[in-house]
Amino acid sequence: MASINKNYKKLQGAYLFSEIAKRTADSQKKNPGVEIMRLGVGDTTEPLTPSVIKGLKKGVEKLGNAKTYTGYGNTQGDVQLRKALVDFYKKRNVNLSPEEIFISDGAKSDSANIQSIFGLDNVVAVADPVYTVYVDSNVIAGRTGEFINGRYAGLVYMECNEQNGFIPVPPKEKTDIIYLCSPNNPTGAVATRDQLKSFVDYALKNKAIIIFDGSYAGYISDPTLPKSIYEIEGAKKCAIEINSFSKWAGFTGVRLGWTIVPMDLVVEGTKKDKVNSIWSRRQNTMFNGASNIAQEGALAVLGEEGQKESKKLISYYMENAALIKKSLEDLGFKVFGGEHAPYIWLKVPGGLTSWDFFNKLLEEAHVVGTPGSGFGSQGEGYLRLSAFGDKKTVEKAMKSIKDNLKP
Ligand SMILES: Cc1ncc(COP(=O)(O)O)c(C=O)c1O
Repeated sequence: MASINKNYKKLQGAYLFSEIAKRTADSQKKNPGVEIMRLGVGDTTEPLTPSVIKGLKKGVEKLGNAKTYTGYGNTQGDVQLRKALVDFYKKRNVNLSPEEIFISDGAKSDSANIQSIFGLDNVVAVADPVYTVYVDSNVIAGRTGEFINGRYAGLVYMECNEQNGFIPVPPKEKTDIIYLCSPNNPTGAVATRDQLKSFVDYALKNKAIIIFDGSYAGYISDPTLPKSIYEIEGAKKCAIEINSFSKWAGFTGVRLGWTIVPMDLVVEGTKKDKVNSIWSRRQNTMFNGASNIAQEGALAVLGEEGQKESKKLISYYMENAALIKKSLEDLGFKVFGGEHAPYIWLKVPGGLTSWDFFNKLLEEAHVVGTPGSGFGSQGEGYLRLSAFGDKKTVEKAMKSIKDNLKP
């Protein structure tokens, strides 16, 4: 008889966003005339910019003409787009070749799938709190034991807290695969060059691999902060970088991302190029290439006009972030993040749990956040607010917190 992958039974995660949706719907039912302001979800809300629309239209028009029609493309991604990404990285003094870049349908799938090219005996380290995809994909693969007291047996958790500014330090023990996300979802923290260097040094020393998720890199405004792990010397020998057009170009629905597997990256028993060729093999077997229309759109994002427009888009969301941060600080809340990331990490006052404060915020101010405890045990006592809403909603939400939230 057929059986299921029993690792799915260990998963916890689906609870978070379905529970938020349920509590929000219940609250709306109780207060039918009241506007609920959603600052919970990390989804973009602003429309695509004019040059991206032009690029996407160009892609559609090409498909409508027999002379320019294309079916399946290069599984690794359109060469022109990969070359444009090479130029994009060159501006940060990072030298890549198009063969090192794999275009995908987004960073979520890549960050979930990348573990599949590594052995099940690898010890995995994740931050706590964490973007849960890194954890769940390893649970499904079978690299963990059961979920006990808020943690999966077999995973190494790197604690992020106020003391370390929500950027973890490398594990004390030897691990093999380390997931890092900077700027960070959910805490909005960003790693400095020295902090990333400590991980690169650790990885080189322990022959470990870093999976670096730079999906929010576009939000970094301080030029001294690294936008790519490859800005750190030696990283090409030990790091895979995953990225996305979602958050800085509004592609959450269009779907497009990329992953860099450097030729220099080696793991036990492999020579140069081998990890790259295994990821290529994996993609060729299980993926048929990203949408050709979306790739035309991405080329437009990387063009001169597209870059100017995406900077404006980022500024729009970061003005929201600044407003949330300042409004909450003025009310006496302790808040983190929101300077190089579109997330504000609020310390829940009065010793309440994340869910207690979620309820209070929803019932009294009609504002929806995301309980920090949903991202890991160290997220307990925090709440994430997203700056991706439209400005009016953010303004109303802040006014409502000021006017209605009881001390
Ligand atoms: C850290 C991080 N990585 C990846 C993603 C997903 O990106 P994509 O839309 O490209 O799948 C998200 C989305 O919220 C994210 O927060």
